[in-house]
Amino acid sequence: MDTYLQAEALAKRFDGVAAVDGISFVIRTKEIFGLLGPNGAGKTTTIRMLSTILAPDAGDVRIGGHSVIHERDEVRKRIGVCPQELALYPELSAFDNLVFFGRMTGLSGRAAKARARAVLAEVGLEDRGGETVKKYSGGMKRRVNIAIALMNRPELLFLDEPTVGIDPQSRNKIFETVLGLRDEGTTVLYTTHYMEEADRLCDRIGIMDRGRIIAVGTPAELKRQVGDPARTTLEEVFLRLTGRKLRD
Ligand SMILES: Nc1ncnc2c1ncn2[C@@H]1O[C@H](COP(=O)(O)OP(=O)(O)O)[C@@H](O)[C@H]1O
Ligand SMILES: [Mg+2]
Repeated sequence: MDTYLQAEALAKRFDGVAAVDGISFVIRTKEIFGLLGPNGAGKTTTIRMLSTILAPDAGDVRIGGHSVIHERDEVRKRIGVCPQELALYPELSAFDNLVFFGRMTGLSGRAAKARARAVLAEVGLEDRGGETVKKYSGGMKRRVNIAIALMNRPELLFLDEPTVGIDPQSRNKIFETVLGLRDEGTTVLYTTHYMEEADRLCDRIGIMDRGRIIAVGTPAELKRQVGDPARTTLEEVFLRLTGRKLRD
């Protein structure tokens, strides 16, 4: 399978402390790649560097063949980013948020409206898109944020802990959306500290701890390092690798 993203020796320090400590990994075209790790592992810092929001101290990333350092605009055309913190206008309807962000990416008004309708359907909000976002549940707001990231038809979608603190219905809807996108050919990077989620959703997983990727593989490959994959959890893999529990 082709490589879509290649990160080489990527590093970032804050106040002398390594948040991301020289990580190298690849994401293959059309896979769901999970970064699984506890809070503070460096997942968000990694996503921010991969998505050109934060300049790395060292290393580089190629996305669709383009460097995040030297070809930022080429990279930005190809990616969609759904950040860990919500970024939307609560006073506007979901539809108007989407049209606004679509216009920001250069779509005409007409194209933005058509795309807004399509992405609302993709996240399962087609019936509620006219309502102001402040009346939405946390899970619905999260789905609008994912929809915003889809406005420019990204080849690679970054989802940073999209299911934290939301209702089970929205969570299932987000899983459906992510799997549907993958089936349509979108490559996805999904971060989470929920091991069951990574296990269920991801084609391959990088386990992250203290700024490093300490293991990479399919869920079954990772579990095989510990025992019979059918009877092992990723929690046990993390425990074996670090001596600690990956708790919520
Ligand atoms: N802007 C920042 N300034 C200082 N420290 C930061 C900043 N962003 C992240 N960190 C630190 O870097 C480490 C990794 O954080 P983060 O990437 O947010 O991890 P995760 O997303 O896995 O929870 C943490 O110790 C965090 O406190
Ligand atoms: Mg984070």
